[in-house]
Amino acid sequence: MNWEYVQPVAIRFGCGVRKEIKTAAGTLHCRKGLLVSDPFFVKNGLAERIVEESEGMLGGIFGEISPNPDVEEADACAKKIREQGYDFVAALGGGSALDCAKAAASICFTDDSIRKYHGTGKKLPKEHLPLIAIPTTAGTGSEVTCVSVLTDHGNGKKTPIVSENFYPAFALIDPELTYSMPSKVTASTGIDVLCHALEGFWSKGHQPVCDALALHSCKLVFAYLGRACKNGSDAEAREKMAEASVIAGMAFTLPKTTAPHACSFPLTNLYHIPHGEACGLTLDYFTRINAGAENGRLETFAKEAGFESAGHLADAIDALKKETGLRRDLKDLHLGKSQIEELVRISRHPNLYHNPVEVTDEMLHEMYRLLA
Ligand SMILES: NC(=O)c1ccc[n+]([C@@H]2O[C@H](COP(=O)([O-])OP(=O)(O)OC[C@H]3O[C@@H](n4cnc5c(N)ncnc54)[C@H](O)[C@@H]3O)[C@@H](O)[C@H]2O)c1
Ligand SMILES: [Zn+2]
Repeated sequence: MNWEYVQPVAIRFGCGVRKEIKTAAGTLHCRKGLLVSDPFFVKNGLAERIVEESEGMLGGIFGEISPNPDVEEADACAKKIREQGYDFVAALGGGSALDCAKAAASICFTDDSIRKYHGTGKKLPKEHLPLIAIPTTAGTGSEVTCVSVLTDHGNGKKTPIVSENFYPAFALIDPELTYSMPSKVTASTGIDVLCHALEGFWSKGHQPVCDALALHSCKLVFAYLGRACKNGSDAEAREKMAEASVIAGMAFTLPKTTAPHACSFPLTNLYHIPHGEACGLTLDYFTRINAGAENGRLETFAKEAGFESAGHLADAIDALKKETGLRRDLKDLHLGKSQIEELVRISRHPNLYHNPVEVTDEMLHEMYRLLA
């Protein structure tokens, strides 16, 4: 088996590392940055405090970002960077803020809209601004991935753009920033971590380094997500979930995500189910489907993670969703036949083809019928 592993992001992890923006920017020989912030931190004043603490290194804030950010938000952010002549970008927030900043930092030397690169396969221009990523969810792992997921709400398209440009120069991972997540956001972003770990492991593009990262991260989620949801100030649980998140990010960015992420895109677009919760909805189903793939390597993984079998791992995923209050079906949506057909059709996203077992329309029909 031939494989390759790269991870170009400098990672600083620990309580208080959010204060290291100035040092990180100095290392990059940068002088004037834009803070791209989740609106939650604009409202609670942390964004402003971070600008003050940067002692002049950060010169402004861009906070117009929605969950599942729109291509137009990335374009507006790029416009601000262009007009003000910033030479780096710092992003504070969950995957939405980080992904918006990644896209903006990549198109700000051009007059292009990010639409030109969204689901088109067109390569982004090489020149881009360096990014310092400061995640506040545990989470997407976007701080170490080469992925930016944007939505074009105008045409209903949500899709990842993949580019080497998107690797941040620095990831400052400060578990304290996740304390303010409400239990519901903790649960949804936390199950996303488990999806990244398992999907990175069973993806057709799997490889040994990512396998090891996936196992470590998977064990952490089962040990700590329930605790973090129950008590948001449980420092150990928050720290371990932040660790699980960044490590799962490294576990999937090269192998790529698979069927649960492919199915999440229509669930989020059409029914506004948050990203992680939408991915987690089908994770146990695909764990059972994928159990027999590639000589049962998922069976071995499940045993190493402390379960009797892949089937028991799937049961534990369902139990974790129940414990953390995540949705386990779609019954409240009262979906009809044509809506199920639409879900099946839009689930046929490119990521589906990274799944180790071929996912047929019949399987998707059966799965959505069971969930509905
Ligand atoms: N780039 C990648 O590698 C990658 C991987 C997976 C998913 N994604 C994408 O990332 C997005 C989801 O990101 P996310 O799950 O981190 O959620 P998010 O960034 O959309 O945030 C979810 C909600 O939580 C709030 N929030 C964030 N941090 C908070 C905190 N510490 N305290 C209180 N509230 C907080 C936000 O304001 C928002 O309302 C989706 O678009 C998804 O497709 C990207
Ligand atoms: Zn995800």
